Amino acid sequence: MNTTPSASTPSSAPESGALTQDQLKTLVGQAALQYVVRGELVGVGTGSTVNKFIDALATIKDEIKGAVSSSVASTERLLALGIPVFDSNEVERLSVYIDGADEIDGQGNMVKGGGAALTREKIVAAQSDKFVCIADESKLVEVLGQFPLPVEVIPMATARVVRQLAAMGGHAVVRQKNGQTLVTDNGQHILDVTGLQIRDPLAFEAQVSQWPGVVTVGVFAFQRAQVCLLGTASGVKTLTF
Ligand code: 5RP
Repeated sequence: MNTTPSASTPSSAPESGALTQDQLKTLVGQAALQYVVRGELVGVGTGSTVNKFIDALATIKDEIKGAVSSSVASTERLLALGIPVFDSNEVERLSVYIDGADEIDGQGNMVKGGGAALTREKIVAAQSDKFVCIADESKLVEVLGQFPLPVEVIPMATARVVRQLAAMGGHAVVRQKNGQTLVTDNGQHILDVTGLQIRDPLAFEAQVSQWPGVVTVGVFAFQRAQVCLLGTASGVKTLTF
């Protein structure tokens, strides 16, 4: 397995001064257009970086068939920009899935789910030939686990899953939004887990995924990225894994 990603030279450098995180997201969102196969459907993730990609995708909407979306939020944005959205069940394979990440390591393993869309993201990623991650350089880590790990759970299993995570050294809290327990697009809850160092992402994902009541764990190792477009101070760097 690769331990070092191969990196290509930044494709565009800032004209002057440091770019904001928002500008870096715009840059990688636009850079992802090169991976969109014209005439086909594209898999679309969720989050503020993906929103930049969706905005860029709208500029070539007449050149694609449409999108398969990973969340209600992305679907609404795609439709508002005139990009047709297809049900994942209507589609056997997608050439490419474009999504952000909360963390990505040097092998393309990721932590995802900061936007609570991890389950649908993993489904669309699984039906795609290539995962292109778009992120700013703050997301690149040595070891996954600095960002609180999202785990989508069926509410009835919450206390048991919290205890199982505690036995691994993790501290899990139920995600809140606007003073209430967050409910996902799938009608379930999210645990955010701190205190973990995920040194073997494949083994970790395999283990936690089979606990009763876990819908999806936010480690993406089986569906890791093959490419990461990383927004850096000197432009977009392409990492391949
Ligand atoms: C949503 C996700 C996002 O891809 C992840 O949270 C990154 O989001 P952003 O681009 O806003 O930083 O996994 O569930």
